Amino acid sequence: MRILHFGDIHFWRLQLARDFYYPKRLLGIVNLAMRRRHHFPAQLAREAMMQIASEDADLVLFSGDMTTMSLEGEFRDAAKAFAPLYEKWGDRLVAIPGNHDRYSPTSVRRNYFESYFPHAAMPEGRRVLSRQFGEHLCVVGFDASRPFMIRSNGLLDRGLERELDHELGMIGETGRKVLLMGHFPYSYPGGLPGKWHHRLLRDEVLAELIARHQPVAYLHGHKHVRWCLRDTRTPQTLCLNCGPAGMASALTDSHAGWLTFELDQDGRLTGLTKVSLSSGGDIERKAVPIPSEI
Ligand SMILES: [Fe+2]
Ligand SMILES: [Fe+2]
Repeated sequence: MRILHFGDIHFWRLQLARDFYYPKRLLGIVNLAMRRRHHFPAQLAREAMMQIASEDADLVLFSGDMTTMSLEGEFRDAAKAFAPLYEKWGDRLVAIPGNHDRYSPTSVRRNYFESYFPHAAMPEGRRVLSRQFGEHLCVVGFDASRPFMIRSNGLLDRGLERELDHELGMIGETGRKVLLMGHFPYSYPGGLPGKWHHRLLRDEVLAELIARHQPVAYLHGHKHVRWCLRDTRTPQTLCLNCGPAGMASALTDSHAGWLTFELDQDGRLTGLTKVSLSSGGDIERKAVPIPSEI
């Protein structure tokens, strides 16, 4: 089975929200006007979505951050850009929200993410979604994103921990292999900790859950760099960061792109490839060595 993993496309609109008084909104709009809109050119996001739609994949996974400030207009733009992907892959496209899609309490309360992405909506009160593909594979996505007044953290609270533990336990009993998808990393290259204002709070609990349930891979984004690593706490699980799909950068691993790989029915992951758009509009593909189990 060929899988494409992308995230952090970050559609944006330079406009005031109804809840403009929320502290992060002021910072967000100034940052967008001064800096961010140059790093996430709208044309690049459109081009990336067109290229993704033409890729050959059995399954497409999106690990969050479709918008920048959870504005209704941004969700509308994102839904329009995702439409050809849903048309091609239907339920074989699995998406979860990132912290930018849960930007303020009002945007969460208004259910913009769920309204514009009904395929990705989780059942009322739940924050874990589980999809089975064939006899051997389950994709489990979870939503640890919630508004923080200033910071860009996520939180794996006790309710989400219990829900995720239960779901992974149930699937484990069936013997199916699991691809787990969240928005935030729990492990960084070089073993460095995430920045305090940007990391998943209680990420040590996620590492512990992963060590026990041993999914084949943990797919995420959030930190805008593509990488592949194994953490000594979770040696059975490959950590894959798809990098940003919509960002312009001189560094290939931070420039607009995504990951592809093959997964067989025994859970063997092969053919990992970093894909990025070149400035000439071409696609560059680079095979990535998979670190062996520690
Ligand atoms: Fe992001
Ligand atoms: Fe993020």
